[in-house]
Amino acid sequence: MAGRAVVTGVGHYLPERIVPNSAFEETLDTTDEWIRSRSGIERRHFAAEGETTSDLAFHAARAALEDAGITADEIDAIILATSTADLTFPSAATMVQARLGMTHGFAFDVQAVCAGFVYALSNANALILSGQAKRVLVIGAETFSRIMDWTDRSTCVLFGDGAGALVLEAQEGEGSAQDRGILSVDLNSDGRYRDLLYVDGGVSTQSTGHLRMQGNQVFRHAVEKLAKTAETALDRAGLTSADVDWIVPHQANIRIIQGTAKKMGLSMEKVVVTVQDHGNTSAASIPLALSIGKGRGQIKPGDLVVTEAIGGGLAWGAVVLRW
Ligand code: UT7
Repeated sequence: MAGRAVVTGVGHYLPERIVPNSAFEETLDTTDEWIRSRSGIERRHFAAEGETTSDLAFHAARAALEDAGITADEIDAIILATSTADLTFPSAATMVQARLGMTHGFAFDVQAVCAGFVYALSNANALILSGQAKRVLVIGAETFSRIMDWTDRSTCVLFGDGAGALVLEAQEGEGSAQDRGILSVDLNSDGRYRDLLYVDGGVSTQSTGHLRMQGNQVFRHAVEKLAKTAETALDRAGLTSADVDWIVPHQANIRIIQGTAKKMGLSMEKVVVTVQDHGNTSAASIPLALSIGKGRGQIKPGDLVVTEAIGGGLAWGAVVLRW
């Protein structure tokens, strides 16, 4: 017998406003054709004025709780992965906690940029396996539209806003790779690559700042590191690519997603792709894709799912789980 953190609910929320690529043609030297062919992105959602990350997170959390058939009273902890929290403090997670009417347990944010959801899942798994929590709400939520430089065509066309959430619950498994729940994790970071992807402002430097990225350098690291972390995590679970039902990757660029699948020897038929509709939503992209993949009928109970992501830090990692 072995403890497992099993997914019992999933949900997402997207702000109402949808912005097609063509909208950028009016203000920037870019085209719908360039954005589609270089990134796979066709449209993205942007939060309304005054709509914050914790607002998006709250709606996604409610949807996940409803899907799990439980209320916030039955949750022990909330982990929210974000790099765009409403305020410097308190954490966006505690804001969601309050809006859910939850006055017990604990809530905190995790910041690992686009790898944030993978880091948050790993934390939730550790809390459950150590017995500190029985049910954890794990949310990824971002408003990257707030940190775009709207004059920089190489970044502002790539990102979007959104949120997704999972409910994880402690259940007993047999200790084999056939168990439902999180089977293995691989996390990595290397701060030497800070300048490839960062925001040129922050609390301690007294500004909000804008996202800066050397896209082609990040691209190069992404394909190589994502396939490796996914294979390391699979190996830790005693599995290989041949066992995978679904890759649910961070949705930054269709060419990265295709390159990673190819390196792993997997056909695109086994990949959940949402980048065309959402752009890069950083820590929200994996839970959004999990929720949409389930809604489309792609991800079914018992399926072996591999999530992988890379972002600023650089920070990257993968989680293998049986749905
Ligand atoms: O989520 C965190 C991780 N982030 C990522 O994974 C993003 C990784 N990087 C990428 O997705 C791609 O590198 C990009 C989509 C950002 C760029 O694609 P690329 O094939 O690597 O193009 P590039 O950066 O090498 O740029 C090619 C050309 C450049 O022009 P020159 O120097 O060749 O004349 C850019 O100035 O494309 C130009 N360019 C644009 N042209 C039209 C850059 N942005 C645009 C644009 N419209 N929006």
